[in-house]
Amino acid sequence: MSEPLVLGIESSCDETGVGIVRGTELLAHAVASSVEEHVRFGGVVPEVASRAHLEAMVPTLEQAYAQAGVGPQDVDAIAVTCGPGLTGALLVGVAAAKALALAHDKPLYGLNHLVSHVAVDQLEHGRFDRRVGALLVSGGHTEILLVDDLATDVTMLGSTIDDAAGEAFDKVARLLGLPYPGGPHIDRAAREGDGTAIAFPRGLTRGRDMERHRYDFSFSGLKSAVARHVQREQLAGRDLVVPDVAASFQDAVVDVLTAKTVEACRAEGVDTLVVGGGVAANGRLRELVEQRASAAGIEVRVPRPGLCTDNGAMVAALGAEVVRRGLPPSSLDLPVDSSMPVTQVVAA
Ligand code: KG4
Ligand code: ZN
Repeated sequence: MSEPLVLGIESSCDETGVGIVRGTELLAHAVASSVEEHVRFGGVVPEVASRAHLEAMVPTLEQAYAQAGVGPQDVDAIAVTCGPGLTGALLVGVAAAKALALAHDKPLYGLNHLVSHVAVDQLEHGRFDRRVGALLVSGGHTEILLVDDLATDVTMLGSTIDDAAGEAFDKVARLLGLPYPGGPHIDRAAREGDGTAIAFPRGLTRGRDMERHRYDFSFSGLKSAVARHVQREQLAGRDLVVPDVAASFQDAVVDVLTAKTVEACRAEGVDTLVVGGGVAANGRLRELVEQRASAAGIEVRVPRPGLCTDNGAMVAALGAEVVRRGLPPSSLDLPVDSSMPVTQVVAA
């Protein structure tokens, strides 16, 4: 049987994404982002994101059909993110997917956003032939996953207990007077700075914390430590050395992310690690994860940045895997689930 042709729709946060794949081959990848509309609020405003999805959905679909040279009647299945994410934003994508499924009599698959972030790597580096570990780091999530089987067997080994990694970058950027989204600005500033200049805390890495939260993360204490440092410098009448603060903060985040992830892979006997999410674009993270993973005999797979951030191709990629396995489609009364557990790859 030839590989399934699948349309994927993503709308869990501020990107309206539509992708079309045939198996692990990427045919279309169209994304409209509302990030500009959130800049003045310093973070994603759910209501604004939902409205932007509503406006961008049909144009983005049309763009994807044009890129792939196919129409809605040609696809074998419609895949859509139904969680986790912002409820109002998810509703727009799921409503669009239901309309397409009904109008063209296609099976509908409501899929888990986090698992899609892992599946997308198959478009770039080929189908997984073994279990893989994954580190997902973006404005909305920070998780270590263990993927025994993309379609049926995913476990969460750890996650953040407060802020997501990208959220920490964004909040610290604000403290340093850098624009939103802060990640790329901190990344750039840090290149001129000394990562050992300020000893910022590494959350959940000691004693009891490590026992209870071996693979979990915490970034809110780090953010407060940066705030205190900024305040201290101001009170002392000293100029803030932004590159040093950026580099020291970034090193603290990246140190914990890479140490815990590589340790989780090692303990689970996993020799392949996929890194995804917007923070995967971070230069220091890429460097350190590569270094620590290779020292542990682990191969790192990072999709290109445009596939790391939220997009529809990742949903289509997971959809194709699920269709290929012959798993049953979701029901047409499929709800959205803002906190969909990662163990549920396909919604009933
Ligand atoms: O995956 P993404 O585009 O959107 C979602 O959050 O869903 O990730 C955006 C996040 C933002 O917090 C942004 O600051 C962060 O990724 N980011 C970075 C870098 N580029 C984007 N963080 C650190 N270094 C970067 N180079
Ligand atoms: Zn995401």
